[in-house]
Amino acid sequence: MRRIVHVVGARPNFMKVAPMMRELSKYPHQFEQLLLHTGQHYDDNMSRVFFEDLVLPNPDIYLGVGSGSHAQQTARIMLACEPVLMKHRPDLVIVVGDVNSTLACALTAAKLGIKVAHLESGLRSFDRTMPEEINRRLTDHIADLLFTTEPSANENLCREGIDSERIHFVGNLMIDMLVQQLPKANERWNTIYSNLKFRSKTRDLEHCVLVTLHRPSNVDEVEKLRKIMQALVDIAQEVPVIFPVHPRTRSRMENAGEKIEYSNLIILNPLGYLDFLALMSHATLVVTDSGGIQEETTYLGVPCLTLRNTTERPITITQGTNELVNLETIRQHIDKIMDGTWKKGKVPEMWDGKSAERIVNVLLRQVD
Ligand code: UD1
Repeated sequence: MRRIVHVVGARPNFMKVAPMMRELSKYPHQFEQLLLHTGQHYDDNMSRVFFEDLVLPNPDIYLGVGSGSHAQQTARIMLACEPVLMKHRPDLVIVVGDVNSTLACALTAAKLGIKVAHLESGLRSFDRTMPEEINRRLTDHIADLLFTTEPSANENLCREGIDSERIHFVGNLMIDMLVQQLPKANERWNTIYSNLKFRSKTRDLEHCVLVTLHRPSNVDEVEKLRKIMQALVDIAQEVPVIFPVHPRTRSRMENAGEKIEYSNLIILNPLGYLDFLALMSHATLVVTDSGGIQEETTYLGVPCLTLRNTTERPITITQGTNELVNLETIRQHIDKIMDGTWKKGKVPEMWDGKSAERIVNVLLRQVD
């Protein structure tokens, strides 16, 4: 029997851990699972709602670290995580993605001599001003088992000298969740549609733009954020713009004394997994700076404009429906989408809902 601790902390972690836990639970004689939530995200609509939507078990361990500077948050997670790992002595700690919780728990486990598996490994934006890039690089170099979503990740890891025997290309775990939950999300569409229609003062919602923004490079500088909001207001003169606002973005605007309500934007609080998925799959296009949404839109075939200079997920551009844009180029891209001449894209290899199965097969081989 192998004891596994799964680490979650921030919103993008939950939808990747849920399919892993479900798949591992098919092998009760081989694996015992514990779920550790660092508490990096703590608002109900950033955390609890995902446990309900994804049918995730309640965390066995909750560290309650909350927000802080990078050093504070990372250090607090390490301090709180160490005694827990010493108590439970797992055989494997599984971390996912690139948030502060990922690096903090991977580092703590590695120093205790506990094996670490990194899901969504090898992605690189090559932009070291992004905190996530530092988290990913370091986590990959600590990890014993590295599971990748696209071929570029394998190339990055090999170039960095990581032994290829530790790297496993398994496809996209987040798409496992999407495939499972899409029918349930679509059942909610009529209710969501009538609520939005009311909020949009009965404007036609046949076409709409869905927006998410939270990267420090877009929202931490108030002048930049103001320009982005103005661009959204301009777009909303032609097509309804729906914007569920991340708490980081909201707090940056409020701290700068900026109003969050813009009369022609449909401003919402952060949405749960199912509501957001329903909206994304019905949107005409998505404007985002998220990592995961670039991949989800590629799977759904929905055009995606990523308001960043780089992406760590290049396959969403070379094979999918994504393009990088800036405030100068966004209008021309939107026109192209509205004209119906946007690239169609295709679903990348192994984004087929079976990634958890492949990962667990690798883990089973390690048990034998
Ligand atoms: C974090 C991740 C980012 C990920 C994002 C998804 C890091 C370095 N960043 O960014 O990679 O894309 O989550 O959402 O780990 N806050 C709340 N309630 C919450 C959580 C946060 O109000 O439940 C506010 C606080 O003001 C906090 C700010 O949001 O200071 C930022 O939160 P933090 O966890 O530091 O980073 P995110 O921007 O959420």
